[in-house]
Amino acid sequence: MAKGLKSRLTSYGDAEFALFLRRAFLKSAGYGEEVLDLPVVGIGSTASDFNPCHATAPEVIEAIKRGVLAAGGIPFVFPTISLHESFCSPTTMLLRNLMALDVEEMLRAQPLDAAVLIGGCDKTVPAQIMGALSADVPTLIEVVGAALAGMNEGERLGACTDCRRLWYARRANQITDQQLAQGHGRLIASHGTCTVMGTASTMACFAEILGLMLPGGASIPAVHAERLRHAEATGMRAVAMAKAGGPSARKVVTQAAIRNAMVVLAALGGSTNAVIHLAAIAGRVGLKMDLEELDQIGRKTPVLVDLKPVGKNYMEDFHAAGGLPALLRQLGNKIDTSAMTAAGDSIADMLKRWLPFVDEKIIRPESNPVSPGEALTIVRGNLAPDGAVIKRAAAEAGLMQHKGPALVFEGLEDLAKRIDDPALPVTKDHVLVLRNIGPIGAPGMPEAGGIPIPRKLAQAGVKDMVRVSDARMSGTAYGAIVLHVAPEAAVGGPLALVRDGDIIELDVAKRRIDMLVDAKELESRRAQWKPPPRPKRGYRRLYAEHVMQADKGCDFDFLQDEALQ
Ligand code: FES
Repeated sequence: MAKGLKSRLTSYGDAEFALFLRRAFLKSAGYGEEVLDLPVVGIGSTASDFNPCHATAPEVIEAIKRGVLAAGGIPFVFPTISLHESFCSPTTMLLRNLMALDVEEMLRAQPLDAAVLIGGCDKTVPAQIMGALSADVPTLIEVVGAALAGMNEGERLGACTDCRRLWYARRANQITDQQLAQGHGRLIASHGTCTVMGTASTMACFAEILGLMLPGGASIPAVHAERLRHAEATGMRAVAMAKAGGPSARKVVTQAAIRNAMVVLAALGGSTNAVIHLAAIAGRVGLKMDLEELDQIGRKTPVLVDLKPVGKNYMEDFHAAGGLPALLRQLGNKIDTSAMTAAGDSIADMLKRWLPFVDEKIIRPESNPVSPGEALTIVRGNLAPDGAVIKRAAAEAGLMQHKGPALVFEGLEDLAKRIDDPALPVTKDHVLVLRNIGPIGAPGMPEAGGIPIPRKLAQAGVKDMVRVSDARMSGTAYGAIVLHVAPEAAVGGPLALVRDGDIIELDVAKRRIDMLVDAKELESRRAQWKPPPRPKRGYRRLYAEHVMQADKGCDFDFLQDEALQ
């Protein structure tokens, strides 16, 4: 296959003319003949004023360009969609697949020999991995890195676990407006992605364990000089891959790599969102991420990394403690060390040259875990025949076996209208049910599953309740919250049939979630159920017609690898 600027020519029916024209345009931009024959590294930029998490992307890009030039390549920066959690309505998840399509098609269309993609905020990294796998171009990910933790009233704090903690403390009248305002300005102390083990941090670790990011890169803070040196080294490595013609993304992300990611997810106490993203990533290479296998791995892999929301610390502490390589060492033979790293050798080889330091206060040994049980548990039952997930390590232990009457909210509008109504007939034993906010229902499965504790209960000191929905929740959130119920209510999943007062039983030890309602009664409710209307045009129509359910990663059915279609 042709390389560099000679590759992927525009179809004019005259290849030589197409190259002549391409080079003429680049000459107009000031490039000389010799430079245009160098290996080309495309740098996918997600810099955007609507994405403050990526404010440092321009500096990271400059460092990557420096590395590319030093190694004898030529960098070409190109834009892709950029997604920030707080700047996309109704939710970034609706747009993850659009970004993945953008990445895939631009990697496929443009004349590049290798690519470096700048990721960071939650959905960017999974979208980039999905796109890179489908385009099957030699690709590296460089994340912008996490923000630093701040200090407020004598305590450390950071986005977004503490954003929620402060907000809920104000709702419960535990702090004043003035205290909230001061904390607000200190929650995110520097540029970078969320400081806890939320979705962005979990996905950065996935990029590294899947072999798409140079070792040690997941945890480097955004504002450390080390981040720029890592970016520079990534540019150099991309040139080596461009010259060698590989390995392409699909050669690196194997079944062993996917399994390693599941082990890492469990040991990190990582985001519930990562379960969906990993299923979508596996689907792009013809593999199924089996929820049962994830559950089995979770049973044998306690949480070792002491970061919020499960533990106490922040990403900068994880980095100082040794980062992902140190965690892989602590995990011993749970990790398949024959899997490849982005440096081109195996995890076993990488660990041989990595310094052995580990701070065991942050990255614990298995003999002293942060949480003895599994972080995430998959539950099933007549309420969730295709599964649901609960982050049990971040929930009140006493609620892991619970039976209570349902209080049903039909959607986000209904929730907003009634949740703080002093007359809401709710007790701490109720199970709050929120439906019609799954992949199709909302649409896009927003992070609304962390249903707030009704104000009157919060003010009475209630901190956690069993909550069930077909939504997701932020990776930085916590509580006895059953998420990703599949199939969702909008396609007629059993969640659509629950009524106020039905008894719902959650038994996490038995992996069950059931509504204790007679089968005949459920049949008669099903006969009365009507599907909600679907979008009629544009991307939202495409989305509603092709998005798969949460257990399959919410990817589009036609974007999965052919082996699964
Ligand atoms: Fe961007 Fe959390 S909002 S990483």
